[in-house]
Amino acid sequence: MEYADLLIETHGKVAVIRLNRPKAMNALNDNMMNELGVALRGFDQDPGVNVIILTGSDKAFAAGADIAAMANYDYRETYGNDYIGRNWEHILDIRKPVIGVVSGYCLGGGCELAMMCDFLIAADNAKFGQPEIKVGVTPGAGGTQRLPRAISKSKAMDMLLTTRMIDAVEAERTGLVSRIYPAAEVMAEALKVAQGIAEMPVSVAMQIKDCVNQAYQMPLSEGVRYERRYFHAGFGTPAQKEGMAAFLEKRKPEFDGL
Ligand code: CAA
Repeated sequence: MEYADLLIETHGKVAVIRLNRPKAMNALNDNMMNELGVALRGFDQDPGVNVIILTGSDKAFAAGADIAAMANYDYRETYGNDYIGRNWEHILDIRKPVIGVVSGYCLGGGCELAMMCDFLIAADNAKFGQPEIKVGVTPGAGGTQRLPRAISKSKAMDMLLTTRMIDAVEAERTGLVSRIYPAAEVMAEALKVAQGIAEMPVSVAMQIKDCVNQAYQMPLSEGVRYERRYFHAGFGTPAQKEGMAAFLEKRKPEFDGL
């Protein structure tokens, strides 16, 4: 499929979706978010893909929702047509791991979209911020909810109320991102990370993702019971048989297709 606002590549079992509106710092508009949903769902269903990377350009993951597109919206347009809700959250339904790779600006809705990824790898030039207050609105895609969970209430309030951007080092220190690489190397390194995950049994990767996401929805005791069900059910599966046999036989496991 041809996309107007995305670039797509595949590297073995890793699919790379690149947000691509270079003239607008990858500002997220309706078409891009519709296309993103199609691309994500397509790869989620593709047996040839185990891991998805979502990224932007060297300059910007995304500088937020498209301000030019939304400047004239009224309540009928936003509430009536479920702005954001209608097409920004398809990523939350994706069962395979989605790694966000962030270079440059990652602001507003861009930061919110990044936080919907399973984990984030940052280039050393990444800048994260929630400057919505400066354009007269609250964040609308989860910024007030996911940011405090990711980096603490105090840091989140600081960013949301003052519009202060944090750099990659502060983002890593506060837990927003898991790793930092030099900008010139970040995609190559992220691909290595993704390819490592892609060699694991995709079924187990999906189950781990599901369990971790439940940690935000369930009390601890329920979450642990939820995890235990997957653990018990894993015994007897081809992934468990191959993984444990390979360990005992001192060889590399072959999980292809499991
Ligand atoms: N929407 C639309 N266009 C945007 C944009 C956005 N969010 N961010 C940048 N652009 C456009 C600029 O208008 C500019 O276009 P022109 O060349 O046609 O003038 C182009 O991208 C390049 O931007 P700048 O000239 O501003 O580049 P800069 O290097 O001087 O600054 C920046 C970069 C700091 C990212 C600055 O562009 C900026 O502050 N952008 C807006 C950030 C923002 O407020 N984001 C939050 C949006 S609201 C939101 O996201 C709601 C939500 O929660 C869902």
